[in-house]
Amino acid sequence: MSATFRVSRFKSGDVEPHFEDFEIEVESGATLLDALLQIRRRDPSLVLRHSCKHASCGACGMRANGREVLACDTKVAKLHASRPITVEPLAGRHTLADLATDMTDFHARMDAVGMPLVRTAETAADVVPPEGIKAFARFENCIECGLCLSACPIAKLDGEYIGPATLAAAERVVEEPRGRDLGPVLALAAEPDSVWRCRDAMECTAVCPAAVDPAGALFRLRRRVATDGLRKLFRRGVGPG
Ligand code: SF4
Ligand code: FES
Repeated sequence: MSATFRVSRFKSGDVEPHFEDFEIEVESGATLLDALLQIRRRDPSLVLRHSCKHASCGACGMRANGREVLACDTKVAKLHASRPITVEPLAGRHTLADLATDMTDFHARMDAVGMPLVRTAETAADVVPPEGIKAFARFENCIECGLCLSACPIAKLDGEYIGPATLAAAERVVEEPRGRDLGPVLALAAEPDSVWRCRDAMECTAVCPAAVDPAGALFRLRRRVATDGLRKLFRRGVGPG
């Protein structure tokens, strides 16, 4: 199958990005990442991130035909209806080069929330583990791909907004605190650029490839922050209680 990829190009020193077209033959079943790696063999200066190639590491987030996708989990055939296929970096982030964006602040915010990476509360009860292993636990859903941040209309315009993934991670900590003091996480959620900044567009949940449902988590966290705020008011004797 022949396909044309209109790829966003940007290098340090460029005033703004520009598109460059590549027409290549791709195998049926090829992913967008396969196609981009094929293009990179033709033009080794193309910069993009990838690692696992199976939708687990979150490195290959980008936009294809204007929509946030994991390149390794998106079939070219699915994108081919629109010609050429436009490929751009995630929105609302500083582009380092071509399809690679600077995710430093995003990862720093995720680290600050401190969501454990493994869900100790959930084990694969129906799987018999090999000898010497008690039970299988599973990783948290979020793969920190940043697709939700790119799709969020608020995060795109306001770099101060904490964003859906970080708030979903905060909600996981609140849901499963494992003895942690929830004060700092709830204080973060109550900040002006946090849960109250969201305008319920739901784009984050629509694009999330890992079934996190960041919007749902954010709404639950919002309720918790509101309840906490009311409790504090009542304790100070402001409310009817
Ligand atoms: S919440 Fe979903 S879209 Fe957002 S970073 Fe995590 S996995 Fe990616
Ligand atoms: S390469 Fe790891 S998620 Fe795509």
